[in-house]
Amino acid sequence: MNERITDDLEHLVEAAREARTHAYAPYSKFSVGAAVLAGGRIFTGANVENASYPLGICAERAAVAAAVTAGERTIDAVAVVGSGEDITPPCGGCRQVLNEFGPAMVVIAESPGGKRRRWTLSDLLPDAFGPGSLG
Ligand code: THU
Repeated sequence: MNERITDDLEHLVEAAREARTHAYAPYSKFSVGAAVLAGGRIFTGANVENASYPLGICAERAAVAAAVTAGERTIDAVAVVGSGEDITPPCGGCRQVLNEFGPAMVVIAESPGGKRRRWTLSDLLPDAFGPGSLG
């Protein structure tokens, strides 16, 4: 991986860490920040919970919505930082939502203590149902 990409991914993880500080998670007390890289720009999201519990949204979905709202349609990478001691891999629903915009994207999860893992989305969601499945 070249230096530019490595740099981009470091910025992405840093943006996810920062986004986590804005999480609204009074119910679970589990804060999550996410950042997606799309069109060379970074878009962030945090989990936003609700008193009506099922209406809460995950950090990754908030970040995807920000990127798509800005006109992006292809996501190259996503970073996720959760408050757990271990890393927070994207939940199953978020894997599906991410797949829509970049089945080959790089996924990085980091814990606040600095544990890190990296996959591609297709590692995490093999044989996905996606836009091409409808044809
Ligand atoms: N959460 C995320 O934001 N992303 C994930 O991939 C896993 C879970 C949030 C949802 C909820 O607000 C809290 O973490 C606990 O599940």
